[in-house]
Amino acid sequence: MPSRSPSRTARATSRHVPQLVASAAALFAEDGGRRDPSLDLSWPRREGFAYFADLVRREDSLCLLALPAAGSAIGHLIGRIRRADPLRPGTVVGVLESLRVDPAHRETGVATALTEEFFAWARESGAQQASVTAYSANESAIRFYRRSGFSPFEVTLQAPL
Ligand SMILES: CC(C)(COP(=O)(O)OP(=O)(O)OC[C@H]1O[C@@H](n2cnc3c(N)ncnc32)[C@H](O)[C@@H]1OP(=O)(O)O)[C@@H](O)C(=O)NCCC(=O)NCCS
Repeated sequence: MPSRSPSRTARATSRHVPQLVASAAALFAEDGGRRDPSLDLSWPRREGFAYFADLVRREDSLCLLALPAAGSAIGHLIGRIRRADPLRPGTVVGVLESLRVDPAHRETGVATALTEEFFAWARESGAQQASVTAYSANESAIRFYRRSGFSPFEVTLQAPL
């Protein structure tokens, strides 16, 4: 059995933006690159610096990194708060926007630690629900999310035209 990861989770700051971009680019390539032909895989390298530079400063966002004792991040999690709106006036949602762990460090509890911190942050931010979207073909991620307490709610159906 793999041993528990010695990494710690930490809030990303502006100096970590390049590491967020690198992890997001790897996620796009591995996940959307295999499963979503319409996804622009160059988006993280083109737009990600400005996107994450804004996000690390925002109070309604969570940018977490899994950091080993030395060296670059081995995983990241992005969370956002979706405020109540006229359609769902009583509900604040913590949206888990993005999660990835380096292949060499998977199955050692890194994503579990990131997700537990996301849940705590979302609760403290007033959310009553957490939500995440995954490609239906990404079975290992869906298994991970189900184990973490998520259950399927909506399904997106597509048809070629
Ligand atoms: C999905 C993903 C984030 C999970 O990351 P991870 O760090 O491997 O997750 P954890 O180690 O916390 O848990 C994964 C599994 O390892 C098991 N595990 C956790 N700690 C363990 C340990 N110390 N020893 C053995 N197994 C362990 C868990 O039970 C879990 O089992 P499951 O697959 O049946 O759910 C990772 O596989 C990944 O980055 N995938 C590619 C990107 C991706 O698809 N992201 C999601 C987009 S929606």
